[in-house]
This record gives sequence, C-alpha cells and structure tokens, in this order.
Amino acid sequence: MFEHLSVEDPEIADAIRGEITRQKNGLEMIASENIVSLSVLEALGTPLTNKYSEGYPGKRYYGGNAFIDVIENAAIVRARRLFGAEHANVQPHSGSAANAAAYFALADHGDTILALDLAHGGHLTHGSAVNFSGRQYRMVHYGVRKDDERIDMREVRILALKERPKIIVAGYTAYSRQLDFAAFRKIADEVGAYLMVDMAHFAGLVAARLHPDPIPHADVVTATTHKTLRGPRGGLILCTSADRLRPNDKKTLAQRIDSAVFPGMQGGPLDHVIAAKAVAFKEALDPTFVDYQRRTIDNARALAEGLTSQGLRIVTGGTDNHLVLVDLSPLGIGGKAAEEALDEVGIAANKNLIPFDARKPTDPSGLRLGTPALTTRGCDEGDMVLIAAMIGRVLTSPGHAAMKADVAAAVRELAARRPIYSSLR
Ligand SMILES: Cc1ncc(COP(=O)(O)O)c(C=O)c1O
Repeated sequence: MFEHLSVEDPEIADAIRGEITRQKNGLEMIASENIVSLSVLEALGTPLTNKYSEGYPGKRYYGGNAFIDVIENAAIVRARRLFGAEHANVQPHSGSAANAAAYFALADHGDTILALDLAHGGHLTHGSAVNFSGRQYRMVHYGVRKDDERIDMREVRILALKERPKIIVAGYTAYSRQLDFAAFRKIADEVGAYLMVDMAHFAGLVAARLHPDPIPHADVVTATTHKTLRGPRGGLILCTSADRLRPNDKKTLAQRIDSAVFPGMQGGPLDHVIAAKAVAFKEALDPTFVDYQRRTIDNARALAEGLTSQGLRIVTGGTDNHLVLVDLSPLGIGGKAAEEALDEVGIAANKNLIPFDARKPTDPSGLRLGTPALTTRGCDEGDMVLIAAMIGRVLTSPGHAAMKADVAAAVRELAARRPIYSSLR
C-alpha cells in the first residue's frame, strides 16, 4: 500500500500505517465512529478531490461537471430513497456544517432556539457558549428528568410556551433512548416553531427503520454520514419541500436549505466525499444493513447488561440505541482516568458528562461507549460480555500494570478474531 506516498512522504505514510494498525488491533468503542467499507475508501481516494463544482447538478459555477453531476444526483436520489425524504442536500462538509446551514435557513441572528442541554446529552452545535450556535442565536435548553434521566417532554412544552423559539431541535450526542418526534411536533405546532431533528447519531438506525422515523414529523432533518450510517465523514440535510411556517414565501424550504448550504455557508463541495456518500447510501439500502443495525442495538443492550454486572451504573438504566452512557461513580474512578486506562489496553472510548454531573466537563463522571464499529467488524453479544468484563477489570484497578497487560493481550486476540481491512497493510 502507498507505493507513491511511502517514497514521497514517508513521515505521513508511516503515520497513516500506524493509524490503520491501531484500528485493526484495537477495539473502537467511540459511539460516533464506524468502519467504512473498502468501496467507500476507494471512492474517497480519487481525483474527484481535484474538482470545483460550486452550485448544484445542472447549475454549476464551473465547467467540466458532467460526471460530478451524475455522482451528486445519485447521492441525492439514494439519500431520498433511503429516508423517504422529499428533498436531500448532500453537500454539507460535516454534521456541524449541516446544523449551521439548517439554522441559517430557518432562523435569523439572535433568534431563540430550544435544544437539549449539552450536559444532558446535547451537541456543541446545540448551543454551547464556545460554539457558533451559542454565539449567534439565543439558545435555551431542555434537559432530562432527575429520577429516570429521560427527556422531559413536559419541560420541553413549558419552555417552548415561555420562550417561543423559532426552532425546536430534537437530537443528541449522548442519550441512549429514543425520541418522541410526534410529541416534539405537537409542541412545535403549538408555538409556531420549526422542528429540526439532528439524527447525526442515529441516522443508520432510522435508515434501517429500527428507530422512530423523524421524517414525517420534522421540517428539517440533519445528519452525519459517518456514525451509525457508516459512510464517509460528512453531513446531510433532508427536508420537506413546502414550508409549514411560511407557505407563501417565494422560496420553498428545500430552496432555502440549498441556498443556506451554498452560497450561504460553503463554497465548493467535496466531490470525492459526495461519491463516497453515494456508495454508503447504496450499502445502506441493501437489506443486510437492517441486520447490521439490529445487531448494533442488540450488542449495545448486551454491553449495558455486562457493564451493570461489573458494578457500573448505566444512565437511564439501559439503552434502546447504539450507545451506552456509563456512570463511573460506583467504581470511584473519573472519566479522564477511565478513558486513559482503557486507551492503554487498546479500547477507545470517551469521557462524557452525565446528567446532573457533580464533576467538571474535563474530568466528568461518565464514559460513553458505542457498538457501531465493533458490530461492523462482526462482534456479537458474546463478545460484548467479554468486553464488559475487560472494561470492568481495568476500571476497578486502573493502576494494576500486570492486569492491564493481560487485558491488552485479550483485546488484541479479540481484534484478530474479528479482523478488518485484511487487504490493507
Ligand atoms: C448530534 C450531533 N450533531 C452534530 C454533530 C457534528 O458532526 P461533525 O463532527 O461531523 O461536525 C455531532 C458529532 O458528534 C453530533 O453528535
């Protein structure tokens, strides 16, 4: 591999090889990551990256886009089919860019947006003070209930009635339960707000129809293509054509979304990434994708049960999706130390705030774990029980070097039993 790069730039070639080896030999449990197919990788590493194609198929600002139009049209058609959406924009460079464009299309600077509190599972783009969203809009937040740690729809309604937001955002980055989109829609209608669903995390589950479908309820749905959806790193926006709140507007909602992406927020699209998105959407349309997503959810449940039997507390008591939010407090270890100790044995996970966390965000009480990548490499529920036991051992005695060496060997053995990218060396 890398016959040219190895000669021209050995420093970068070596680092890429190192990362491929890390991915092969370790267990990737970061809930927002996955392992793309070789077809997706092939599409990414193509001369499509050379092309400028500002605009949309048939309406470009540059010549020479005949093949790019074929690719982007295929990506759009496949995305619409996959999700049953009226309109798709496949150009956002990332999930954050998709959210920025959606806000830009639906709200004005300073408008109020109601979203899930970051400390309760929301994303940076849902109103963090250090993010564009928190600086450009007046963000107000709903949270989860203290007793069962689930989103409190009563609170969402009370806040919506009080704050009269322009947009209500439903979506999460660290929440292990399903969302009630019909209830969100009802509240949005009551206060005259747009409903935007950020399904960045659970887009793959929606595509497989194993999660309630936001499309019939939301005005705009944003997503990343690289998490459960298992495509290249990137963003996606789906929307209705008609605008519920501005039915007499000269522009349809779909037109407003498109112009918010380009020329509103971005210049030239990443055509190699759009080609890879098209490939991933085709893969997601295959019936085997449903089975993959079902196994992802089953694995997350088995992991949650395994971790509970190791003495850990699972936030909300379990999971309905691909992720598990763990409260480390019963083991007396903080999130930072837990993340580092697991990293040492080859298990990648991330520290995370839990609702009503008494600790600080840089060293919170929680750990977020996900099963999308492990499931792609073929891990099953039996493997989840083994992995939960490994995690339990490491987190109970994070300073025990001999035990960690033992677990690191078990991680390598499991990774070898569930190989990835065998043809990449
Ligand atoms: C809910 C949610 N929205 C948006 C994003 C942003 O995606 P990206 O990292 O591609 O900008 C993420 C990423 O973790 C996310 O979890």
